[in-house]
Amino acid sequence: MTTIERPTRGFADLAEKDRVAGQLYTDPEIFAEEMRKIFYRTWVWVAHESEVPEAGSFKTTQVGDQPVIVTRDRKGNFNTLLNRCRHRGATVCDQRSGKANGFTCPYHNWSYTLDGRLRGIPYPDGYEGVVEKNDFPLQKLRTESYLGMIFATFNHEIEPLEDHLGDAKIWMERFLKQSNGFPTKVLGSHKFRFKGNWKIQLENTTDGYHFPMVHKSWMASVDAETANMMSFMDDPAAQTHALGNGHSVAIMAAAHADLDVDDGSEEIQPRFQHLVDELAEAGESPERIRRYMRSMHGCGFNLNMFPNIAMSSSFFRVLIPISVDVTEVWHMAIGMEGGPESINRERLRIHEHFQGPFGFGSPDDAEGWDRVQIGAGGNPNMPILVNRGENREFTTEEGWPTSHVTDETGMRESYGMWKRMMSDD
Ligand code: FES
Ligand SMILES: [Fe+2]
Repeated sequence: MTTIERPTRGFADLAEKDRVAGQLYTDPEIFAEEMRKIFYRTWVWVAHESEVPEAGSFKTTQVGDQPVIVTRDRKGNFNTLLNRCRHRGATVCDQRSGKANGFTCPYHNWSYTLDGRLRGIPYPDGYEGVVEKNDFPLQKLRTESYLGMIFATFNHEIEPLEDHLGDAKIWMERFLKQSNGFPTKVLGSHKFRFKGNWKIQLENTTDGYHFPMVHKSWMASVDAETANMMSFMDDPAAQTHALGNGHSVAIMAAAHADLDVDDGSEEIQPRFQHLVDELAEAGESPERIRRYMRSMHGCGFNLNMFPNIAMSSSFFRVLIPISVDVTEVWHMAIGMEGGPESINRERLRIHEHFQGPFGFGSPDDAEGWDRVQIGAGGNPNMPILVNRGENREFTTEEGWPTSHVTDETGMRESYGMWKRMMSDD
């Protein structure tokens, strides 16, 4: 059951196959309808299991514009609870993450268990015969996880998470191979906001077209081998697949798309020699060291899962829509739980170099997104084009519409899903 309802308006026509109206970035009514028809109805990524590692661990985040708490309870189950007291609606938890036995609302101290049951009411005599505790738990979202990725939804009648993920699951599995057989762990995260609509960021994840232009300064800051790996503009193996349900994958470095497949042609980069020496000294075999070194670059593709989570390089990118023209982005660096610490450390440095606040990559992206918002606001009726590569799109044997990585196949997939969801009543 979808539990949050707002008045409906028909906006689905504003997205066509090859273009969308600029209003999609600027109209607050469209934003409100997106919350109701997309973010309250589908599976939304809320946490990685390593962020809530043991009983009592919790993290706060949002599903659409609604504040939620993700918890691991005493039985080890994951819960997603609306962060809204059943008394008069105050948020019951304002910490980003931590460990707790439960949650006590700071306003009048109603207290709740880790799975949301109302445990205690102070001065209860005024509630005798008035409030039955069982009737007032924190609202619970349906919560499921796949490969350590936890998703939640207000829609209790939705299809199982795995059906929603569909063919994206194949790519999630490939992405996680960079953990080299160890459990994946979130090493840390940082957030920022940009002054633009959430879909501008959603588009960016599988937009290979901007890479050589926007990321020129990053290309100039890395060694020749890394720059070569990312010069995919003329590489026919660099493709974008539409995976269905709004998901897409953009493969930049095909040789890294499945780390278990190694044709032996890749040279290990000299800049990693200190790690090779360190691991050899620790007794790791040459084969194992080679596997580690190849995983250092991340997965070689960007996987975009509609509506709010991307897996790229060695990080998750989480989208949180704040308002029609403000979006929060979380970059969460991932590493190995139990693997060599030197690799996790080096990965963090690589991550900072591109995604960090002082990095050479993401700040340049954000500049582009701000500009799109300003331009779209100038004339919201003028269309935004997503037609690049329509003339060369084909379907693979898996049934995936496919074109070159610089084409806008991924965006067309996302907007197709957007249109379907916005058409539903
Ligand atoms: S609003 Fe939470 S106890 Fe009153
Ligand atoms: Fe970029």
